[in-house]
Amino acid sequence: MNKATRKAIIAGNWKMNMTPSEAAVAVKKTAELVEGKNGCEVVLCVPFVDIAAAVEAAKGTNVKIGAQNVHFEAKGAFTGEISAAMLVECGVEYVVIGHSERRQYFGETDETVNKRTKAALAAGLKVLLCLGEVRDERLAGITDEVVSMQTKLDLAGISAEDMKNVIIAYEPVWAIGTGLTATPEQADETCGVIRATIAKLYGNDVAEATTIQYGGSMNDQNAAELLSKYHVDGGLIGGASLVPEKFDAIVTAAQ
Ligand code: PGA
Repeated sequence: MNKATRKAIIAGNWKMNMTPSEAAVAVKKTAELVEGKNGCEVVLCVPFVDIAAAVEAAKGTNVKIGAQNVHFEAKGAFTGEISAAMLVECGVEYVVIGHSERRQYFGETDETVNKRTKAALAAGLKVLLCLGEVRDERLAGITDEVVSMQTKLDLAGISAEDMKNVIIAYEPVWAIGTGLTATPEQADETCGVIRATIAKLYGNDVAEATTIQYGGSMNDQNAAELLSKYHVDGGLIGGASLVPEKFDAIVTAAQ
């Protein structure tokens, strides 16, 4: 297994953008543009309230729908939360877990990321597990230690079999929404550190089979070079995923 055989995944993360009616239009438009581009999996991760409209609009296309978070408990008194079973029943296939905005603004920790990941996998969802260093950590020269620690903590207790449904999204926090992109070399190197950590935990075969995305100001201009790197198997795209033409250009770059 190597880059050529790993599944490339281009996923959009809409964050808190698009109402349901806007989502229906954007999913349809995106699906038209990416039709037949089967060299990668195409996913759009939409706000919870857009899921029904997005799933309906994506029917019969090669666009898969994802959510942006999931709670770890199955049900109960957790006001405002959404369970994995709820997502599955709505037609969701993927879920973003541990995005830096969740860690930064909503108190997510490696422990809750790990619990959410386990709950999502148990329900049959595929997980886009986000991790990455903040600017001060990169400047201090501890990026490798940080991503390796996050990888170990976030994947604690997850089996090699379940790793088939885990995609890692390496997102340097300083590059998200800032217009600053990691250089292709930085992205490749750090995705490589994450892959080496997975190899330590699960062995080489699992590490070589795991899809690792880069995220952080990936766009139609820089995608091809980032995606050409050995350890970069796809992208998690914020801003550029809101514009179907730009997102399509990234999907095209991944073919
Ligand atoms: P960005 O966001 O592409 O807007 O930098 C990426 C992300 O947060 O997943």
